[in-house]
Amino acid sequence: MKAVVTGGAGFIGSHMVDLLVANNFDVIVVDNLVNGRLSNLAHVKQDIEFIETDIANPNIDLVQLLEDVDYVFHFAALADIVPSIQSPGKYHDANVNGTLNILEASRHSTALKKFIYAASSSCYGIPDVYPTPENTAIKPEYPYALTKNIGEQYALHWGQVYDLPVISMRFFNVYGLRHRTSGAYGAVFGVFLAQILNNKPLTIVGNGEQTRDFTYVTDVVDACFTASKSEYRNEVFNVGSGNTYSINYLAELLGGDKTYIPRRPGEPDCTFADITKINTKLHWSPKVSIEEGVKIMLENIHLWSDAPVWNESSIEEATKDWFKHLSK
Ligand SMILES: NC(=O)c1ccc[n+]([C@@H]2O[C@H](COP(=O)([O-])OP(=O)(O)OC[C@H]3O[C@@H](n4cnc5c(N)ncnc54)[C@H](O)[C@@H]3O)[C@@H](O)[C@H]2O)c1
Repeated sequence: MKAVVTGGAGFIGSHMVDLLVANNFDVIVVDNLVNGRLSNLAHVKQDIEFIETDIANPNIDLVQLLEDVDYVFHFAALADIVPSIQSPGKYHDANVNGTLNILEASRHSTALKKFIYAASSSCYGIPDVYPTPENTAIKPEYPYALTKNIGEQYALHWGQVYDLPVISMRFFNVYGLRHRTSGAYGAVFGVFLAQILNNKPLTIVGNGEQTRDFTYVTDVVDACFTASKSEYRNEVFNVGSGNTYSINYLAELLGGDKTYIPRRPGEPDCTFADITKINTKLHWSPKVSIEEGVKIMLENIHLWSDAPVWNESSIEEATKDWFKHLSK
């Protein structure tokens, strides 16, 4: 079986590669390394083919690459909030045009069994229902969320019109080893781990009572693998832990001093996946608890030694455009 993983040098994509290699797939990774790292794939480099290419580049021939592929796991995307507010065009290019190019090329595969799209729970914006089921209203709050949702709509439309066997997996807050450590101010784990390593206080947004559905990365790729083997097509599944934990609880598990910074517009007080559908239809449920996941992160905290160490003032500077454009 041959699988292509776009964005396979990134955080979640590289774990998808691990799972496919462990299951004896021939794996081709397509990544332009804009945020991915070859070091994420160093341990499997003998087992995979790596193609450095930009999926948004209209001059690249992806048709030939995908002509006899059995599975496509489309994870490549720009995945940060603030840069998406600052440069929405880049996000449209990578997340919408890039997705369209991969869908178009996949359409010509003679062997395609499943196209898995990595969607984002950010499509729900600030939802009215918790836990949040898949049929909740779509209300993107910022360009990253919008472009990921447009990509999902494209994928499902290609399923409807061209019979592409598409499944869209809406990930909630994914964390785990290889969680991106460089670049834009972003997901809470990378920020906190670098602060702990440098004996700096954890910068807690708001009062820390907001909660997040933290889902461990190996559970997420297991859900994608399970979906790829299922008989379902043109379906959307939430992928979450089925639980939600406050940032204060996360800080308590991690340990260390805390400092509180202003809460941000456009962010929900809670993310909490309703995972009834994936549980019932795919018989998938997460295995790694938040306590186990945090323990793994702390045991490997040295991996965050080159991560930027954020503090109140650098976060204020980095999130200026967030406050400027999202404040209602
Ligand atoms: N991390 C999360 O909590 C989360 C939540 C919801 C959805 N997602 C989605 O999961 C996917 C993976 O996210 P991640 O957290 O691993 O991010 P990541 O940045 O670590 O991985 C994305 C990968 O895509 C590559 N890429 C970006 N633009 C590209 C292009 N034009 N051509 C080729 N490669 C390109 C990057 O180099 C990187 O390796 C993304 O689609 C993201 O939107 C992530």
